[in-house]
Amino acid sequence: MAKKIIIDTDPGQDDAVAILLALSSPELEILGITTVAGNVPLSLTTKNALIVTELAERQDIGVFAGCEAPLFRPLVTAEYVHGATGLDGPELKEPISKKRSKHAVDFIIETLRENEPKSITLCPLGPLTNIASAFQRAPDIIERVKQIVLMGGAYFEVGNITPTAEFNIFVDPEAASLIFKSNVDLVTIPLDVTHKALTTPARIEKFYQMNTKCGKFVAEMTAFFERFDKEKYGTDGAPLHDPCVIAYLLEPDIFSGKKINVEIETHSQLTLGMTVADWWGVTEKKANALFIGDVNSDKFFDLLTKRIASLP
Ligand code: BDR
Ligand code: CA
Repeated sequence: MAKKIIIDTDPGQDDAVAILLALSSPELEILGITTVAGNVPLSLTTKNALIVTELAERQDIGVFAGCEAPLFRPLVTAEYVHGATGLDGPELKEPISKKRSKHAVDFIIETLRENEPKSITLCPLGPLTNIASAFQRAPDIIERVKQIVLMGGAYFEVGNITPTAEFNIFVDPEAASLIFKSNVDLVTIPLDVTHKALTTPARIEKFYQMNTKCGKFVAEMTAFFERFDKEKYGTDGAPLHDPCVIAYLLEPDIFSGKKINVEIETHSQLTLGMTVADWWGVTEKKANALFIGDVNSDKFFDLLTKRIASLP
């Protein structure tokens, strides 16, 4: 039976690749895509999710717009990474399909209540505002969640938006803190992993060679997206952060990590949004997350390439 998932996202080129990977995977049943403000404002993340579902000819998957701003803070965006649209690179068509009228938070609450307990995996790929809002408003849904597999945080890589914080956690640290304290079965895919899932010219070329609209779209998005990190880190390509979440659902064995305690810094101005991860077990604090540390990047790209090639 296919694994039921809700993708909560702020597309974002790497979010878009993650959505396409999920859409191409028969092992997954996407119940809906919920959008949140993050890489770009909510109106654009929602539009981008519609562009991606239309590109894959999957308008049957509902797109639900969620929170416009973090729980307690002004929104911080990342156009300097993703471009003004959030999906710079390919030519973007105005989507014909419309978002669903229901708010993303209502969709998450109702879907968890209507389905069997522990049958739905939440896949957050952006700031955790929607999920935290749903947990705050309807605490009864927390124990109905099967698992959360999220992209966020860092230990060895420390930070990308500040010296000590990763973007998704930094944008809404209070929301992240709520999730990490919620006792949900939690898998965290931090920068430590995603910085090993790097594009290379040869890997991008394979997407071009598919001669499909989705292959070309992925190639053009990633070619744009990588310019920032190549310059910043001096690497050959850029990390495909968010597709790691979907790849983990499909092939968990290509990842490895440790169950550890992770807490989120919500007060310090200097280290706001830091994932304080007890990787070396120096405290007695209870483990609350499987913190992934490594990925076999060749197997990750093999999977991604094979799946994207199956799309229109
Ligand atoms: C995360 O931040 C965003 O820019 C990416 O989409 C990813 O979810 C990486 O820090
Ligand atoms: Ca994202």
